[in-house]
Amino acid sequence: MVHQLLMPPQEIRTAHLLLTPLTPADIDDVYAVFSDERTWTHLPTGRHTTRASSVELVQRTIGGRVRHGLGSWVVRAAADHAFLGVGGVDMTAAGVWNLGYRLTPSAWGNGYATEIARAAVTAAHDTAADAPITGRVLTNNPASAAVLRRSGLSLVWQGESGSALPDGVERQVWADRALSVAQRDWLVANA
Ligand SMILES: CC(C)(COP(=O)(O)OP(=O)(O)OC[C@H]1O[C@@H](n2cnc3c(N)ncnc32)[C@H](O)[C@@H]1OP(=O)(O)O)[C@@H](O)C(=O)NCCC(=O)NCCS
Repeated sequence: MVHQLLMPPQEIRTAHLLLTPLTPADIDDVYAVFSDERTWTHLPTGRHTTRASSVELVQRTIGGRVRHGLGSWVVRAAADHAFLGVGGVDMTAAGVWNLGYRLTPSAWGNGYATEIARAAVTAAHDTAADAPITGRVLTNNPASAAVLRRSGLSLVWQGESGSALPDGVERQVWADRALSVAQRDWLVANA
């Protein structure tokens, strides 16, 4: 199928990382990172408290890859293949890519999220260049916003939406280009 021929390579190497499609074999590693409260300090309610949440995440990501040719990757160290987390882009119901990343704390501060984001932007362009690349972040997470900015995205909306957040914290929507009204409204509603 043309769609499959257009899929990016199944294994991507960056300076320090090995990026491969998520598979069911990764569920326990995903759960270890997504159940770690240190990876949810900005949004404690998002933490995976059961393995089923990680199963659902992996299944959803695999389904998105099958439908759209690209989905978030397993992130491993290129040197020893140690599991570092999950990151990349996933297609949303709004027809825009969502850029995201969640890494094990010992991996933070090495520029890895930036490496993942740059590879994801390239892969998204190669897969569906017409779809905007977007990211959603909370104002109490400047490290994540810095990664979005360095990946070529700009802030397009900030405010309150959805479930309650800690005092003084707002949601942000970032994008690499102008969004349609429908795309923007969906992102704000699901920020
Ligand atoms: C957010 C996260 C992915 C960043 O990963 P990382 O590999 O450490 O990110 P990078 O090193 O590529 O870049 C982070 C940048 O933010 C900067 N930064 C870190 N903390 C910051 C802070 N409190 N204020 C401002 N900038 C900050 C870093 O200095 C770095 O910029 P620099 O390279 O110019 O110094 C990682 O911390 C993580 O997984 N956190 C938990 C999950 C999460 O919050 N995911 C995002 C949800 S939207």
